[in-house]
Amino acid sequence: MKKNFENWNKEELILEIEKLYKRKKYGLVWETKNNEEVVELCKKNIPILKEEKNKEIIDKKNKNYGIFIEGDNFHSLTALNYTHEKKIDFIYIDPPYNTGDDWKYNNNYVNKDDPFRHSQWISFMYNRLKLAKSLLKEDGIICVTIDNNELPRLWLLMDEIFKSKNFLGEVIIRNNPASRNVVGKIALTHEYALFFGKSSSSKISKIDKLASEKSHKYIQDKEGKWYSPTNLRKTGVDNFGLKKDGTLHHRHYPIYVDPKSKKISTTKKYKIKIFPINEKGEKVIWRRGKEDIHKMFEDGLIFYNKTSSGDQIFYKHYGDLAEAPKSIWTDSKFSASEYGTPQLNDTLGIKSSFPFPKSPYAVEECIKIGCNKKNAIILDFFAGSGTTAQAVINLNKKDNGNRSLIICTNNEKNIAKDDTYPRIKNLIKGYKSKKKEISGAEMNLKYFTTSFIERGETDKKKFLLAQNSTDLICIKENTFKLEQINKDKYRIFSAEEKFTFILFDQLFIDEIKKLIPKYKGYIKIYIFSLGNDNFQEEFEEFENVETETFPDPMISVYNRLLD
Ligand SMILES: C[S@@+](CC[C@H](N)C(=O)[O-])C[C@H]1O[C@@H](n2cnc3c(N)ncnc32)[C@H](O)[C@@H]1O
Repeated sequence: MKKNFENWNKEELILEIEKLYKRKKYGLVWETKNNEEVVELCKKNIPILKEEKNKEIIDKKNKNYGIFIEGDNFHSLTALNYTHEKKIDFIYIDPPYNTGDDWKYNNNYVNKDDPFRHSQWISFMYNRLKLAKSLLKEDGIICVTIDNNELPRLWLLMDEIFKSKNFLGEVIIRNNPASRNVVGKIALTHEYALFFGKSSSSKISKIDKLASEKSHKYIQDKEGKWYSPTNLRKTGVDNFGLKKDGTLHHRHYPIYVDPKSKKISTTKKYKIKIFPINEKGEKVIWRRGKEDIHKMFEDGLIFYNKTSSGDQIFYKHYGDLAEAPKSIWTDSKFSASEYGTPQLNDTLGIKSSFPFPKSPYAVEECIKIGCNKKNAIILDFFAGSGTTAQAVINLNKKDNGNRSLIICTNNEKNIAKDDTYPRIKNLIKGYKSKKKEISGAEMNLKYFTTSFIERGETDKKKFLLAQNSTDLICIKENTFKLEQINKDKYRIFSAEEKFTFILFDQLFIDEIKKLIPKYKGYIKIYIFSLGNDNFQEEFEEFENVETETFPDPMISVYNRLLD
C-alpha cells in the first residue's frame, strides 16, 4: 500500500528512514501475507512423532531401519533436529515447482496468478531449508531439483542459507526429452539439480566411468583392477635419448626378452633386444630406470608384446576410472517420462495417479555424486511417491551398501497411504514386476506420524511430554527392538550391541542398575527429570553406561531453532 508521508511527524519519519536504512541491500527480499500455520503451531506446542505400529515392516531383525514420517515436513524436520542433528550425510529433495496449484500453503493450493506466490514459496522453502541445514553433517551435501520457474529464487535462497562459497555445482538433467507443450516459448526438456555443501569439507564424489567409455583401452587384471597397457617408451617433452653433448641418456638402454617364456631382463641373456626408439626412428628413453625393470617384471607390471610396429614393452598403467561428474546429463535413463511413472506403477503393481515422479536412476546418480559412503544416512523431505527410497534400495543392492533412509511426506491426495508406503513396502518385501520377480531389501521400516503435545512448565505437562518421547528417543538412538517394559517405570530397547533404557521415574534408578549386567554392550540411559540432572554419578561404576536427561534437551533444541 502506498504510504502518505505528508501526514507523518518527525519521529515517524526518522523511524521509517532507519527501517529502510537497515533493510538488506543485496540478496533475496520477500514479503509474506500470512505466517505459516505449521510454523506457529510448532512454536506454540511441542512437535513429536508417534509410531503407527501396524505399518512397521520387519525384514531382518536388528538391521537397518528406515524411517517414514507422514505429516508436514516443517514438523518432521523440527523433530528430526532432536534425533538427527548433524547426522545426515545427504539430502535429496524435489520440492513443488510452484507452477500453479501444485502445492499448499496454509492448507490452500497456491494459484499461479496469486501475486504472493513466489514470496510464499520462498518463505515456505526458507523455513524448511534452514531446519534441513542443521541436520547435515559438516561434510554433508544437499541436492535440490527444480525447473526454470523457481530456479532464480531458489538459487539466491540456497546462496543465503548454505552460502555461495559452498555451492558445488548445478546439473542440467534432460528429464523430459519429448518436451513440455508451450506456445510461443522454448520447449523445455530439462530441469536442474543444485548441489550445496554444508561447509568447505563437503566434496562432490567422482563417479566410476565404464572402462568402455574411457578414451584409452582398459583391461581388468586378475584382482578386478583396471589398467591401461601403456608403452614403456616415454613420449612428450624430455624424452630425448641423445643428450646435447652427444652422449646417451642413462634411460636409453636395451631390454632383453625371451621369445618363448616372454621373460624380461636388462642383462644380455635373452634373444630379443628392444631399444626405446620411437615411430620416427629417434632414440628416446624408457619411463623407468634399469634398476626398476627386474622388480616390475617380477610384480607383473611390465610385459612384452609384438605389435604391428614391432617388439614392444608395455607397462600396466593403473588409472583412476573415476572422474568428476559432468554438468549435463542426457542419458535416457534420467528421463522421468520414460522411467518415472513406469517404475512407480511397476513397483506398486497398479496405475498410480501421482504426477511426475522422478526416474530412480536420476536420483541414484545424485546420491552417488553427493555421497559415496555405503553407510550414509539419506533424507528426502519432499518424498512424494518415494522414488528416493527406491534409489537408495537399488544402490544398496548394487554395491552391498547399508545406506539408511529417512522419508518424509505429507498425505496430500492420500499419497503417503496410496503410493509412498505401499511402494516402499513392496521394495522391502520384494514384488513381482511386469518382467520379473524383484527380490526384497535388507531393510526394516518404522512409520511415524506427526503430533503435538501442549507446551507448559507444569510437572504434569512435562511428564506427559516424557511419556510421549519414547518414539523420538528410539529414533535418536536407532534402537527399536523392545527388550523389556515396565509400564510407567522404564522401557528398554536394543539394536545389536546397543541398548537404550528410558526411565520415567528417578526413584527406580536402583532397580534399573540391577538390570545393567544383563545387557552386554553400550548402554544409554535416558532419565526423566524436571530439571537438567542426568544422574551420571549414580552410574559411575559402569564403564559401558552413559546417561542423558529428557525431555528438557528436546525443548531446548526446538526453542533454539524456532525462536
Ligand atoms: C514434486 S513432488 C516430489 C516427487 C518425488 N520426487 C517423486 O519422485 O515421487 C513434491 C511432494 O512434496 C509433497 N509436499 C508438499 N508440501 C509438503 C509439506 N509441507 N510437507 C511434506 N510434504 C510436502 C507433495 O505432496 C508432493 O508429493
